Amino acid sequence: MKFRWVGALLLSAAAYYVYLPLPSGVSEPWKLMLLDALFRSFIRASHVAHSLGACHRVHLLNRAISWVEVTDARSSPTVHVTDSTLGAVPTRVFQPIGGAGLKRGVIYFHGGGWALCSGRMRSYDLLCRKMAEDLDAVIMSVDYRLAPEAVFPDQYHDAVAASRAFLSSEVLQRYGIDPERVCASGDSAGGNLAAAVVQELISDPTLTVNFKVQALIYPVLQALDFLTPSYQQNQDVPILYRPLMVQFWLEYLGADASLEPLLLANNHSSLDQPGISAATRSKLNWTALLPAERRKSFQQVVKETGSGGLVGKLPGLTDVRAAPLLAEQDVLRRTPKAYVMTCEFDVLRDDGLMYVRRLRDAGVSVTSDHYEDGFHGCMAFAFLPVMSSVGQRSLNNYIRWLDQNL
Ligand SMILES: *[C@@H]1O[C@H](CO)[C@@H](O)[C@H](O)[C@H]1NC(C)=O
Ligand SMILES: *[C@@H]1O[C@H](CO)[C@@H](O)[C@H](O)[C@H]1NC(C)=O
Repeated sequence: MKFRWVGALLLSAAAYYVYLPLPSGVSEPWKLMLLDALFRSFIRASHVAHSLGACHRVHLLNRAISWVEVTDARSSPTVHVTDSTLGAVPTRVFQPIGGAGLKRGVIYFHGGGWALCSGRMRSYDLLCRKMAEDLDAVIMSVDYRLAPEAVFPDQYHDAVAASRAFLSSEVLQRYGIDPERVCASGDSAGGNLAAAVVQELISDPTLTVNFKVQALIYPVLQALDFLTPSYQQNQDVPILYRPLMVQFWLEYLGADASLEPLLLANNHSSLDQPGISAATRSKLNWTALLPAERRKSFQQVVKETGSGGLVGKLPGLTDVRAAPLLAEQDVLRRTPKAYVMTCEFDVLRDDGLMYVRRLRDAGVSVTSDHYEDGFHGCMAFAFLPVMSSVGQRSLNNYIRWLDQNL
């Protein structure tokens, strides 16, 4: 009897911890709640360890994720998997076994706020295996350096170095990749790196091979407006809460974590910031760039006065290499055909949708694949044990798009 009471008490405590009111319409809310509870526990534990001085919270979080998730390079009967390097950057390579002729090639950048995760993680390993199998393509999953040891532009430089090596005739020949059919892709912070790399390399006259397509999955693309309609609408939606995204940005740009409230209030992009021109503001002016059904009745938050001079101290905020949405139209115009995946329940939805609009305005052909029931990170949870339904749907559509366009 006593045990039954204790059991019931523990169960309701667990349910209380896991339960979270979610907006109606989000795909499989219980799965998202469980994922969120797990992620929250990891974050809390790492904050405790951090405040006890045991180690940096990001390290602990990464160690926990690695412990649960990192897998060895294991080949299967259909895909040969090896850990190698591209331009001195560690990279896991997935090569389909068999078949004749040259294969298509994809360089992939994993997500994790420039601070977490790895291409060797189970979820990314499974993603790249599936891509290699379904597309009969060589997939290279890049382990660029992470914050806090590496800060902008280190991650970007690693992504560029790996991409240059990927596009070199030596690597293309070694892996039997068709130079006419190569793609840059990534999700979340990895989508940020993929977009930035494409912008950088597409204008490089020394390269003889360049990307045919770019495929961006819920990418992070700007750090000047943390109150876009999607940031406002989804600030309490797991797993990427609004403050967490701001913390990732501060960490990436090597800035002090104490700036978080200031950025959350959009004080860093107030009108008295001399470092932000009207031309720059127009590139992320969502009142002009988003369709009415996404703008809804949300109001733009532009402060008259804020923290003058902050942009001068944190130049990464307006650097296109960190914020590819701020690129000039002339650069966007040269970038290849694009696929941009966005989710309704994601603070980054509008980063992606504004990029779709800016690429189209520049004359680039773009497939905008929007999931009305999607949440940030869903594609990484397309596999067991979570097997998110919207994750599986989006993964299949992403692979289909690559199959038809690469
Ligand atoms: C933001 O700036 C306003 C002035 O526009 C100021 O009153 C407020 O305290 C600032 N908030 C933060 C968090 O810095
Ligand atoms: C943003 O767009 C709106 C609507 O097109 C326009 O009225 C406003 O002046 C623009 N603001 C900036 C900073 O470009």
